[in-house]
Amino acid sequence: MDIVRTVADLRTRVSAWRGTGETVGLVPTMGGIHEGHLALVRAAGERFDRTVATLFVNPKQFAPGEDFGAYPRDEEGDAGRLDAEGVDLLFVPPESVMYPEAHATRVEVADLGSILEGAFRPDFFTGVATVVAKLLLQVLPDAALFGEKDFQQLRVVQRMVLDLDVPVEIVGVPTVREPDGLAFSSRNLYLSAPEREIAPALFATLSAVAEAVRAGADPEWRERWAESELVSAGFDSVDYVAVRDGATLGRYLGPYAAGQGPGRVLAAARLGKARLIDNVAL
Ligand code: PAF
Repeated sequence: MDIVRTVADLRTRVSAWRGTGETVGLVPTMGGIHEGHLALVRAAGERFDRTVATLFVNPKQFAPGEDFGAYPRDEEGDAGRLDAEGVDLLFVPPESVMYPEAHATRVEVADLGSILEGAFRPDFFTGVATVVAKLLLQVLPDAALFGEKDFQQLRVVQRMVLDLDVPVEIVGVPTVREPDGLAFSSRNLYLSAPEREIAPALFATLSAVAEAVRAGADPEWRERWAESELVSAGFDSVDYVAVRDGATLGRYLGPYAAGQGPGRVLAAARLGKARLIDNVAL
C-alpha cells in the first residue's frame, strides 16, 4: 500500500489506474481503524479493482469542546490494518492540503443536516459534507462506501452528491457489531470497563423499539420508553431516540405500518466521555 499526502500525488496514482481501465472504490476515514472500517474496505475490494482509503481527522466536523484533540491518532497502526485488508493507496493529507489558508467554501445540506445529530451538533454535517465533497472530487472514484452506523451521515452524503451532480455512487454498508451488539466505533475507546458493560444496552433498546413498532406500538411512546430504559441501564443522558422514515429521516405521519417504506430507529446517548450513536432498521 502506498501512502500519498498531496492531491497531485493522489491524482497521479488514480489516473494511472484509470488509464488501464481499472475501477476505484473510496473508503473515507478519520482513523481509529476498526472492524467497521475493514468491512468497508472488504466491500470495496469485492466490487472495485482498486481501493483508496483516506485518513484525515477533519477539524471542521468538531465543535469547540468536542473530542477533536482526543480523537484516536495512530497513523502507523491504522495504515498497517488497512494495508493488511488490501487497500492499494492511502491518502493522508495534512490540514494545510485540505484547508489551505484562504479556504472559504462550505457545503451545507439544509434540513436533513439540521435534524437529529444536526440539532445537537449544529456544524457537524456541514463539516462532513465539505470534507466528503473535497475527497470525492480529489479522488473521483466510481463509488464511496460509508457505514450505516452513521446512518444520517450516509443520507446527508447521498443528498449532497445528488444535489451537486457529483458522479460518484454512494454505497451504505451494514453496521458491524461486537458479539454483545455494540456497534464498532472509534469512540468506543473512550469507554471505561464498567461503561463498556452498559454500552450494549443501546443496541438492545433500539432493537426492542423496532420490534414493538413493527408490532404496532406507538412510535412516540416507544421513543420516550427507550430514553428512560437507557438511563435505567446506566447511560448518563439521552440526546434522542427517534423512529423515522429511513429515506427522508422525517417523522411518520400517524402510526408506522409495514409497507410505508423502510423505517429506522436512531439514537444518541452519552456514557462517561463517550457519546454513542446507533440505529437499527424497522
Ligand atoms: O465517518 C467518518 O469517519 C467521517 O465523518 C468521514 C466520513 C470520514 C468524514 O470526515
